[in-house]
Amino acid sequence: MTGEETPAPATIELLNALPAPTLVLDGSGDVLLANASAEAFLNQSQPNLIERGWRSLFAAGSPVVGLIDEARRTGQGVQAYDLPVAFETGREVACDVLVGQAQLPDRWLTVSFQPRAVTALVDRQMGQSAAARTVVGAAAMLAHEIKNPLSGIRGAAQLLQDTDDQVARELAELIVAEVDRIRALIDRMEGFTDERPQRFAPENIHAILSHVRRLAETGFGSGHIFAEAYDPSLPPVLCDRDALVQAVLNLVKNAVEASPPGGMITLTTAYRTGIRVRPPGASTRVSLPLEIAVIDEGDGPPAHVADHLFEPFVTGKRGGTGLGLALVAKVVGDHGGIVEYDRRDGRTSFRVRLPIFSQPIRSAQAMEA
Ligand SMILES: Nc1ncnc2c1ncn2[C@@H]1O[C@H](COP(=O)(O)OP(=O)(O)OP(=O)(O)O)[C@@H](O)[C@H]1O
Ligand SMILES: [Mg+2]
Repeated sequence: MTGEETPAPATIELLNALPAPTLVLDGSGDVLLANASAEAFLNQSQPNLIERGWRSLFAAGSPVVGLIDEARRTGQGVQAYDLPVAFETGREVACDVLVGQAQLPDRWLTVSFQPRAVTALVDRQMGQSAAARTVVGAAAMLAHEIKNPLSGIRGAAQLLQDTDDQVARELAELIVAEVDRIRALIDRMEGFTDERPQRFAPENIHAILSHVRRLAETGFGSGHIFAEAYDPSLPPVLCDRDALVQAVLNLVKNAVEASPPGGMITLTTAYRTGIRVRPPGASTRVSLPLEIAVIDEGDGPPAHVADHLFEPFVTGKRGGTGLGLALVAKVVGDHGGIVEYDRRDGRTSFRVRLPIFSQPIRSAQAMEA
C-alpha cells in the first residue's frame, strides 16, 4: 500500500454500512473517508470533511483531539468511554470513541463514535426492569387477598340478576362485568408474581417467533401483514419458553395496536457482538449479542408516555392496563437481558437483547422453525 492508493469501492460500501459514525484518516492525519453515519453525526459532508479536516470540528482542548493524536503518535489503537465530545459549534455529545490502527504501512486510522444515548437508554432500561420487580410483592399480595372475596361478590351479584326489577338487574350485571375486569387485571398481574423456578432450556428463537406470529395472525393481528428477517446462524437461547413467548407476544400486540389496519409488523433477529451492558450491582459488563426486534410503522408512543414505557400502569390507550411492557422488562431481565425502545425513520422498534448461554453454536440447524 502506498500513499497514492485510494480505498476500493467495496471498502467504501462496507464502511457506509457501519451504523457507527466512522472516519478513516491517512498517515498524515487527513480525512480519507467519512461514512454516511459520520456525515450525519458530524453534520458535514464527506467532501467538506476531506477539505477542512477533523481537527477544526472540535472545540479547542476537546479530549477527542488528544485521543486521536495519541493514536497517531503511538501507532496503537485507543478507546475512551463516555468521553464528552465537544464541537466547535458548542454542541456536546458523550460518546465512546474507538480509534483503530490499520495494519498497513501507511498507518491509516479509523475513528468511530458511539454516542452514549444507546448506553444511557440501556441503563434506564435496567432501572425500569428493577421497577417492574418492585410490583412483584404488591401484586402477589393483591392476587391472593382479592381474588377470593371477588368470587363471593360475583356469585352474589349473579343471584341478584335473577329479578324482575330491571334497574336492579342492570346494576347487578354492572357489578359482574366490573368484577370480571378486576379479575382480568389480577390475572395479568400474576405474570409478575410467578415465583416458580423458571424452566430454562435451550430453545430455537425462530421457533418461538414463528409461534408468536401464528398466534398473532390467527387472532389480534389478523388484519396486518407480518414480515420476517432472521439471522439463520443464531445459536439456541437458554430461556423459559412460555415466558419469552408471552414477552414477544406483548410486543407484537402493541405493534399491532399501534399500526393502522393492514400495517406491516416486522420481526427480526440478529447476532451483534458489540453490545455490552453492566447490569445493576454487577462489576463487569456482560455481552448481549442475541437481538430480537419487533418493528412497526405506526406513529410511535404518545409523548407523555415515551419516557415511562416500561413502568407498570403507564398506558397511552383507552382500556390499556399498562402492564404489557412492564412484564416484557421483567421477563427479559429474568433472562439476563435488556429491552430497548427506539423510534426513527417513521418506525417504532422494540429490541430484546439476550446473552448466549454457551459457546455460540452458529449452525444452520438453529434455523429450522
Ligand atoms: N409499538 C408501539 N407503538 C406505539 N406506542 C406503543 C408501542 N408499544 C407500546 N406503546 C405505548 O406504550 C404504552 C404502554 O404499553 P404496555 O404494553 O405496557 O401497556 P398497554 O398496551 O397500554 O396495555 P396492556 O398491554 O396492558 O393491554 C401503550 O399504551 C402505548 O401508548
Ligand atoms: Mg400492551
